[in-house]
Amino acid sequence: MEHYLNRGIKDIIQEFPETGRILNGFNIGCTACNVGTCLLKDIVEVHNLTFEDEHALMLQIGRVIYPGIEIAVPRIERKVPVGDGVIRYSPPMRALVDEHTVIKRLLALIPRVTEDLNVTRPDDRKLILEAVDFIRSYADRFHHAKEEEILFREFGDDLEILKSMLEEHRMGRGYVKSVLEAVEKGDTASVSEHLTAYGRLLQGHIKKEDEILYPWMDRDLSVAKVGELFARFAKTDEQFRDTASRQKDFVRRLEEKFNHEEVTNNV
Ligand SMILES: [Fe+2]
Ligand SMILES: [Fe+2]
Repeated sequence: MEHYLNRGIKDIIQEFPETGRILNGFNIGCTACNVGTCLLKDIVEVHNLTFEDEHALMLQIGRVIYPGIEIAVPRIERKVPVGDGVIRYSPPMRALVDEHTVIKRLLALIPRVTEDLNVTRPDDRKLILEAVDFIRSYADRFHHAKEEEILFREFGDDLEILKSMLEEHRMGRGYVKSVLEAVEKGDTASVSEHLTAYGRLLQGHIKKEDEILYPWMDRDLSVAKVGELFARFAKTDEQFRDTASRQKDFVRRLEEKFNHEEVTNNV
C-alpha cells in the first residue's frame, strides 16, 4: 500500500478505474480534475478528511488494488491537525472568495452572451472584447496576480495542488487568446466555443479553490502570516482600485442589460 501512496492519483485511477468511483463517493472529484498531479497520499490532507474517512477510503482503495488480501491501512502523516469540516476563511482568503463571486457573476452570463452571438456585428464584437477585458484585467491581472505572485509563493512552487491550479490559469489564458483570435477572424462559433470552455474551466477552478485549496492553506497559515497576506493584498487592491471598480461596474451593467432584455422579451 505504501508504494501506491506515492503514486499519482490519475495513474492509479487509470490502472484501477474503481478507485475513481470510490473517491467520488467521498466527494473527491479527481476524475474530473483537469491536471490531476496529486499523489494518493496528498488527497487525505488536501481534502481534510477525518481519520474515520481516511481509514474508510484507504481500506476501500486497498481492497481494489490488492483484492482478497487483508492489508494494513496506513495512517498518513499530516502537517496540520484534522479540522471539523466547517470552512472558516481568514480575512485575506475571504477577500479572494469575494473576488470569485464577481468572476462567477460574469461566468454565469456566458450562456446569455453567446446565445444569438454574431461577432461580425459591431455591438457583439464590442461586448466580447469587453468580456475579455474583464477576464484579463480583473480575473487574471488582479485576482490571479494575488494568487500567483503573493499567496502561492508562500507555499512554494513544488506543491502538486499549486502546479495544478497554475496549469488551469494557463489553460484559461489559452482559451482567452483563442477567443480573441476568433474575434479577429469573425468566427462566432469559435468565440462561443472557447468562451464557454473558459467558463467551464473557471467554474471548476473556483470551486476547488473555495472548497479545497483556500481552506487547506488557511489551516497552515500562522496568525502573523495571515496579517502579512492581508497587508500585501491591500496594496494590490490599492494598485488595481480603478480597474476593479470599472470591471465590477461592467458586470453590473451586463446583468442589467440581460435582465432588461429578458423582461422585454417576456412582455
Ligand atoms: Fe486560481
Ligand atoms: Fe482564484
